[in-house]
Amino acid sequence: MISPLVEVAEKTLKTVLQTKISLDKAFTMAAEGVKGRARQEAYQVSRGVVSNFLRLRHCFEELYGRKGRLRELVEFYLSGKWSEVGLPTGVEGLALKYSYPVWFVEELVGLMGFSEVEELLKAMEEPKVWLRCVDREALRLLEEDGCVYRVDHDLDYMVLLEELPKPPHRLKAVKLGYAIVQDKGSALVVEALEGLSPLLDACAAPGVKTLAILQLKGSRVIAVDKSWNRLKTLVRMVKLYADKVDVVRADSTYSPVRWAAEALVDAPCSGSGTAARDPSVKLRLARKSKVEYYVKLQKRLLKEALRVAGQVVYAVCSLLPSEGEEIVEAADAELCKLELPSTTSGYKQFKCSTYVKRIMPHLHSCQGFFIARLQAQ
Ligand SMILES: C[S@@+](CC[C@H](N)C(=O)[O-])C[C@H]1O[C@@H](n2cnc3c(N)ncnc32)[C@H](O)[C@@H]1O
Repeated sequence: MISPLVEVAEKTLKTVLQTKISLDKAFTMAAEGVKGRARQEAYQVSRGVVSNFLRLRHCFEELYGRKGRLRELVEFYLSGKWSEVGLPTGVEGLALKYSYPVWFVEELVGLMGFSEVEELLKAMEEPKVWLRCVDREALRLLEEDGCVYRVDHDLDYMVLLEELPKPPHRLKAVKLGYAIVQDKGSALVVEALEGLSPLLDACAAPGVKTLAILQLKGSRVIAVDKSWNRLKTLVRMVKLYADKVDVVRADSTYSPVRWAAEALVDAPCSGSGTAARDPSVKLRLARKSKVEYYVKLQKRLLKEALRVAGQVVYAVCSLLPSEGEEIVEAADAELCKLELPSTTSGYKQFKCSTYVKRIMPHLHSCQGFFIARLQAQ
């Protein structure tokens, strides 16, 4: 009989490989009916298998001289034998160690050097949970729930959870709306906005930043997204601010809005800066052509936002310069110098590097982001 643990992990891995949904969603589908401690264990194994997939596949083949089936890879992971198989040296070994495609690690090594990339990939093995506190009551409730947290020194409304006794969405502060699960990098994107009105949020769903804009900046927002399903979540999120936000389902490469004072393009991207939160990203990076698809879309979204609004903040949760520095350098716009705490400059190989900002998981304990501010010419 197959253990339920193996079955859930195999189903999760299969779903991640066959669709574009996240590890958490794939696990929820695979683990229907699995409860309590068994569920926690199944999650840890599913996460481990997805996060180490490329390495498991390589080591299985090295050891047994053939490709492993998905179930065999799950059992191989549980046996621990994979960690004893030697890895090649250099970039290929580094890519396998952390289970990323070689092209991706090669590109980062070219920008940052081998040892910094190793630190970066290591940091992305550890998910960090940040909360944006809407009210001080959040801190009291976090203590009541037995959380250990650190209030951020730059953004005093952000807290990093260092120990949490239950998943973040089950914490009282979150359930009662006193805190929102939001990465510090995502909050910094909102900080980059001036907060003019009306503000076009061109890729708004599921609305984490829209809500932060409404709460922190007080702007009137036009929230646009192509995905109706994701907009449904946004509508739930911003329901208390219904009079300050218009929600539109549309393609922002042909903006439904004639004019806005400011725009945010939080563009769809490879998500390569978010592998700590969702390791399924590592598997999707294997398809480099998908990154090229995003690059084309990002250019069109930025161009249209610049046409509609004079000022645009462009952001992606990607570590790749093709989705960051190269996009803003190719835009027909002037770059404004961004001042933001807890960030570094863009990759030094690019002319725009001192104007734009990067948030790096190994330096800032949050997801990887690229942020730039542009002014239409
Ligand atoms: C990075 S996510 C945005 C996250 C969101 N800003 C937040 O903070 O919750 C990118 C979004 O772009 C949307 N999208 C993709 N292509 C689009 C297009 N052509 N027009 C408008 N939205 C698009 C996706 O549906 C997705 O919701």
